Amino acid sequence: MNPYVVIGAGQAGMQVCDSLRKSGYDGELILLGEEDSLPYQRPPLSKKFLTGDLDRDRLLFRPAAYFDKIAVDVRLRTQVESIDRAARQIVLGDGSTLAYTKLALTTGTRVRPLNCPGHELDNIYYVRTLTDSEMLLQRLASTERVAVIGGGFIGLEVAAVARELEKQATVIEAQERLMARAVSPVVSDFYAKLHRSRGVDVRCSSAVESIVESKQGLLVNLADGARIESDIVVAGIGVLPNSELAENCGLACNSGIVVDEYAQTSDPHIVAAGDCTMHFNGFLQREIRLESVQNAVDQAKVAAATLCGQPQAYRQVPWFWSDQYDVKLQMAGIGMPFDQYAVRGDLASQAFSVFYFRDNTFVGADSINRPAEHMACRKLLTQGTTLSVAQAQDIDFDLKQLAKAG
Ligand code: NAI
Repeated sequence: MNPYVVIGAGQAGMQVCDSLRKSGYDGELILLGEEDSLPYQRPPLSKKFLTGDLDRDRLLFRPAAYFDKIAVDVRLRTQVESIDRAARQIVLGDGSTLAYTKLALTTGTRVRPLNCPGHELDNIYYVRTLTDSEMLLQRLASTERVAVIGGGFIGLEVAAVARELEKQATVIEAQERLMARAVSPVVSDFYAKLHRSRGVDVRCSSAVESIVESKQGLLVNLADGARIESDIVVAGIGVLPNSELAENCGLACNSGIVVDEYAQTSDPHIVAAGDCTMHFNGFLQREIRLESVQNAVDQAKVAAATLCGQPQAYRQVPWFWSDQYDVKLQMAGIGMPFDQYAVRGDLASQAFSVFYFRDNTFVGADSINRPAEHMACRKLLTQGTTLSVAQAQDIDFDLKQLAKAG
């Protein structure tokens, strides 16, 4: 029998391999990755790794010996050119072919590049891969001023790191509020105030017209005429799914590789998992592309189960987190869009949760420095427990107890 092959050595790819072995698959298993590192955690790349508090080695999920132990043939620096579904083989960058019995696509995403004039200049950085982050880490040592383009997760985490390292930091966000894709206006406003209170120059509703070189470094020209002087630019303006391999071999794609709730693509021999998939989410009852650790792990487990002929539907509640300064944001469910919300706790003390409701149903919550509340919310959402606006905002109402009662 030909091997099972996993394309993409990120968190989802690692999890597919791990889960395949745990489910009893004992045939040949090959994990292909284009980067030069064993699978590593990405979340610290915009946090502790950049502050220098976490070494490269500690980013790895597992040492090389682990892959030997579970008999996974990890091939790094390996580019996959194409997939020949009829012949059930893939073509590698060096022209060689690799036959498969089953294939898992865990190709992830890549950064959306800037396209304004000047985007190709030196001293413009992104944060997605270990290499990206290592280059930025090195450059930060001799940097005084950081202009961040994009006030999403990456941009704000980098701005927080810059301030912690006592650099000047400016955040330029196109939308009228921060993290607009993921959180509500009340949470966006809280974060704008937080960053401003830590000395970040936060500019929302700001379009970048161009980046030019100056004697002192870089100048970011904004559409409103403002010019931001900086030594470096860090762009965090979203990501794009790596779905070209799938598209080129005729798999169904729609802003990501289309999979069903079993992580099955339109080819019965191919599954896909993680950031790259547009999937039917049983909990949300709709198709969605989720960029998160939770999705990478949970959907990869579903993909492995499907490969092992033990299908189990993907129904997990989505959750995310972001660390900025000493403030931990944890998101449970998908709060947006919502028609009612309730604040529990005190914004000024930086410990509160915002609960979101749609058609009188609790659909998600953002917790700021309230980890126990976040965990209770995940449980409530998983169980589908009824929660009212009045209960949510009543600080004396015992959410944990409600979650326990089911
Ligand atoms: P994002 O989608 O969270 O934020 C991008 C931001 O850039 C948005 O606010 C958008 O309005 C803004 N933007 C887009 N084009 C712009 C332009 N030309 N000028 C100014 N602003 C512009 O994506 P981000 O922050 O790049 O993160 C990338 C990926 O990493 C996402 O998948 C994210 O979920 C993931 N990530 C997750 C984290 C977490 O869960 N803690 C932390 C860091 C990243």
